[in-house]
Parts: sequence; structure tokens; C-alpha cells
Amino acid sequence: MKATILGTGSWGSAFARHLAHKWDDVAMWGVEESQVASINAIGMNPDFIGDHRLPPNVGATLDLKVALVGTEAVFAVVPSQSVRGVMAQVAASDALPRDIPVVCLAKGLELGTLKRPSEMVREELRQVGRTNPVAVLLGPSHAEEVAAEMPTAVVLAGDPGFNWEEWQRLISGPYFRVYTNDDMLGAEISSAFKNVIAVAVGLCDGLGMGDNTRGTLMTRGMAELARITTALGGRQETCFGLAGIGDMITTCISRHSRNRNFGEAVALGREDPAAILRSSRQVVEGFYMAQAALKLGQKFGIELPIVKAVHEVLFEAKPPLKAIRELMSRLPRSEAETERDLTGRSPA
Ligand SMILES: NC(=O)c1ccc[n+]([C@@H]2O[C@H](COP(=O)([O-])OP(=O)(O)OC[C@H]3O[C@@H](n4cnc5c(N)ncnc54)[C@H](O)[C@@H]3O)[C@@H](O)[C@H]2O)c1
Repeated sequence: MKATILGTGSWGSAFARHLAHKWDDVAMWGVEESQVASINAIGMNPDFIGDHRLPPNVGATLDLKVALVGTEAVFAVVPSQSVRGVMAQVAASDALPRDIPVVCLAKGLELGTLKRPSEMVREELRQVGRTNPVAVLLGPSHAEEVAAEMPTAVVLAGDPGFNWEEWQRLISGPYFRVYTNDDMLGAEISSAFKNVIAVAVGLCDGLGMGDNTRGTLMTRGMAELARITTALGGRQETCFGLAGIGDMITTCISRHSRNRNFGEAVALGREDPAAILRSSRQVVEGFYMAQAALKLGQKFGIELPIVKAVHEVLFEAKPPLKAIRELMSRLPRSEAETERDLTGRSPA
């Protein structure tokens, strides 16, 4: 079987490495010549997954048609702001086989439209009359750890009416366990949203705050995550599954998390957020998601105090310590309101 991976970054490389243990041929498509050349020449992508070797059945190409021809599944592993553009190229190439699944692994929302990755994929394919089944594969899955074959579990959530159980089997491996979930919206909103909370945790880490602060942000962050996810039509159980709380914990505590690391760097204050972002080789989805989540909250009339605080620090030049103090001095509330939050009703 042949798989196509769109993107030659961290997650694309680690995921390609995993799939190649099971599939015959894994074709990676990229736009950065140095990454493509390195994958083909030495079977490594050192800037993204260190010294982990890619099996010989992984190849990379700059030619999208070459990557797509004869493929049996496409995995889009590019930043969420690039999903639409990449899928427009896939649609325009006319090389995508009909009826094969397109699975998106990005965690974020499109800034201008607030669309989810699966919506962007579907819309671009429909522009050329394609109705390929679409899914997302999300959960706590740091590329560094998947490349090192550490046990990892994720969620595959796809369009109704397709045999995703078969794909669950095809994507699973000895250290990569795949669950199914029919709540695609819930999985996508949850896994995008947690990036903002990871930035908040990083800000507090950078200020020298401790585990109490981290625990508080993750818990209250979960209340915000559940509030927005259920208001948009996602299920509460999904928030408390791998794409929700699972990814929230991993992202907020991990030294691999670029969202947490980004927040920490902002709090350390050596450069402004935009400059820190520019110097990062890898995408920091939380930077974009802070803007998208704030807009979503405003659109649906949902209170998201942590999102608001992160937004103020990143885009309104508020000092992180001031933002945290203001969060702590909000009007006292009952924690029981969290229960009501989870039913989707906005708190008073
Ligand atoms: N890194 C992880 O551990 C991890 C795990 C799970 C999910 N994700 C998600 O996967 C997505 C990609 O993350 P990543 O870590 O691989 O990012 P990355 O920054 O390491 O790599 C991004 C890749 O996308 C390519 N790309 C960007 N814009 C493009 C465009 N317009 N056309 C073609 N290629 C383009 C880049 O060249 C690069 O190869 C993000 O949404 C991220 O949240 C990452």
C-alpha cells in the first residue's frame, strides 16, 4: 500500500516513519528543498526529528503529482493556516485518486473563517467535484516521542458512512494505538483549543510559577475548552478523551511542546512574541489559535478568561504578570459552575 504525507516537518516525518513500518511505500511531499533532499539522501530529517532514521520505503518529493499517483490514503500534516492552500493544490493537480480517504493531522482553525481543518479539506475537494471521505487524526502525539517509538494513542474521527474501523487497523502499530470517535468537530475544536492553554502554562512557567499554577490552568482551561466545544456542537465525552484532556495534559507539561515553550519565551521577555515566532523553525499553532478562540468566544457569547489573558499578552502588549494577577482577581465563583459549563450553558 502507498500513503502520501503532505508536509515534511516534525509530525509529517515522525508519522511517515511510523506508517512505513506497516505500509509498502510512503511518499512525502514538501516545499522545502533541504528537507526533501535530506530525507532522500540520508534517510533523516535532522532539523525536525533529530537523529531518528526513516525506513528505506520513505521517499520525499517536491512534485505533488509524483507523491499522489497511485496512493491509497493522503495525510495532510501541515500547519492549520496552510491546510487550505495545500488542499487547493491537491485538488488542482487532478492526481488524487477518487474515493481514497484524506486525513488531516493539523491542530488549529483557519484565522479568517474560523473553519476547522476537515472543513477546509472538504471545501477544497468539493471545488473540483471530489467527495473523498475526510477524517482527522488527533491526540497527544509529540513527534519526538512517536519517532522514538514511545507508546502513543490518538483518535481517528471521520465522515459518517465510511469504514474507519478498517483504517484504524491500517494506521495502528505496536506503539501507536488508534481509537475511533464519530465526533469530528469535538476532536478538532478540543485539540486546537488546548494550544492556547499550553501558551498560558508556558507564560506562568517563564514567570517562575509552579505546579499549583499549572494544575489550575489546565483544569480551568478544560472548563473553557468544554464550554466552547459543546457550544459548537461537540460532545462532552470528546473533551475528556485523547483529543481533549489527553492532549491538554501532554501539551501543558511537556518540554517538547512548542506552544508551552513559546509562552515561556514570551514571559522571559527577551523579544516580543512576533519576533520569537519568526525565530521558531516550527509552527506555533497557539499563537494563531489565541486569535481564533477569542473570535469564537465573542461570536458565541462564551466567556473564555484564559484565552482573553493570553490574547492580551500576545497581541495587546500586556505584561504576563499583570494578566495573571487579573485572572486571579476575577469575581469569585463557585466551582459547581464548571458542571454547568459542561452542559454547554454559559456561566453567569
Ligand atoms: N509536532 C508535533 O508533535 C505534532 C503532533 C501532532 C499534531 N501536530 C500538528 O501537525 C501540524 C504540523 O505540525 P508540524 O509539527 O509538523 O509542523 P512543522 O513546522 O514541523 O512542519 C510543517 C511542515 O509543513 C510545511 N508547510 C507549511 N506550509 C506549507 C505550505 N503552504 N505548502 C506546503 N508545505 C507547507 C513545512 O514546509 C513543513 O514541512 C500542526 O497543525 C501541528 O499542530 C504536530
